[in-house]
Amino acid sequence: MEQSFISIKKFTKEPYSKILGYPKASKSQINSRIRELEKLKIKSLSFTGPTTIENLKTLGKGYVGVVVLAKKNSKKIALKIRRTDSQRKEMKSEAALLKLVNQVNVGPKMIASSKNFLVMEYVEGIKFNQWIDTLKGVGSSRKLKTTIRKILEDCYRLDEIGFDHGELSNISKHVIVGKTNSTIIDFESSSTNRRPSNVTSITQAFFIGSGIAKKAKKIYKTPSKEKIIAALKKYKQEKTRVNFENLLKILKL
Ligand SMILES: Nc1ncnc2c1ncn2[C@@H]1O[C@H](COP(=O)(O)OP(=O)(O)O)[C@@H](O)[C@H]1O
Ligand SMILES: [Mg+2]
Repeated sequence: MEQSFISIKKFTKEPYSKILGYPKASKSQINSRIRELEKLKIKSLSFTGPTTIENLKTLGKGYVGVVVLAKKNSKKIALKIRRTDSQRKEMKSEAALLKLVNQVNVGPKMIASSKNFLVMEYVEGIKFNQWIDTLKGVGSSRKLKTTIRKILEDCYRLDEIGFDHGELSNISKHVIVGKTNSTIIDFESSSTNRRPSNVTSITQAFFIGSGIAKKAKKIYKTPSKEKIIAALKKYKQEKTRVNFENLLKILKL
C-alpha cells in the first residue's frame, strides 16, 4: 500500500487537526499536542489503514484512542492519540501496563509515551475475525492452530505474572494476525489487581459461544464444550504448566 507521510506542522489545520484532537479540540489543545509530538520526536503521520475518521484513514479507533501510523526517527510506529472525550486522563498508565507485558514478550513493544500519546510498535496485519474468514483449503487447520496456540501461550504468560488483560472475551478487537506473528493489543483495561483470566477468557472466545467458535469448527474438529470446560476448570483451580498443556492437548493444539 502506498504510504505518504505528512509533516505534523500541517496538523494545526483541518482536516488533520481533527485526528489530533478527536472528536473535538481547541486551537490551544492542538498546538500543545503538536509540541508534545515534537518532544516525542514524531515528525510525520500517514493516513493509512482500515478505519476512516473524518475522511482520513487510520489504523483504528476505540473509546480511548485513535491510532495512526507515524514515523519516529524514520521508523514506522503506531501512535495512539488520546481522545479528548476519553475517560482516561492520560496515556502514561497504559504505557506502564504495556511495558509490563512486554517483559514477558506480549503486546506491541512500548516505545515512548506522554500525557496524550502512546508510541508503540506498529503491528502489521488484520483483526483475528477478518483473518479467520480468509482461511480456506489445505493448511487452514495448521494455520488456525498455530495462531490460536501462539495467543494462548501469550495469555498463559500473562496469567503467570498476575496480569489481566480485561477484554479478551472480545478477540475480534484485540488480536491482530500478521504474516509471521499474531499479537494481543490494547492494554487499556488491564489490571494487576484482578485475578487473571486471560487463558480462560480467550479459550471461551475461541471455542465456546462466539461466532469464531462456529468458524473454527468448520476448519478442524474442535472438542466438545464439556471437555473444554472441564480442562479450563482444572487450569483455573491450579494455573500450572501441566494443566495448561493439558488444555492445549484437549484443544488439539
Ligand atoms: N500497535 C498497533 N499497530 C497497529 N494497529 C493498532 C495498534 N494498536 C491499536 N491498533 C488499532 O487501533 C485500534 C484501536 O486501538 P485500541 O488500543 O484498541 O484503542 P482503545 O483503547 O481506544 O480501544 C485497534 O482496534 C487496532 O485496530
Ligand atoms: Mg480497545
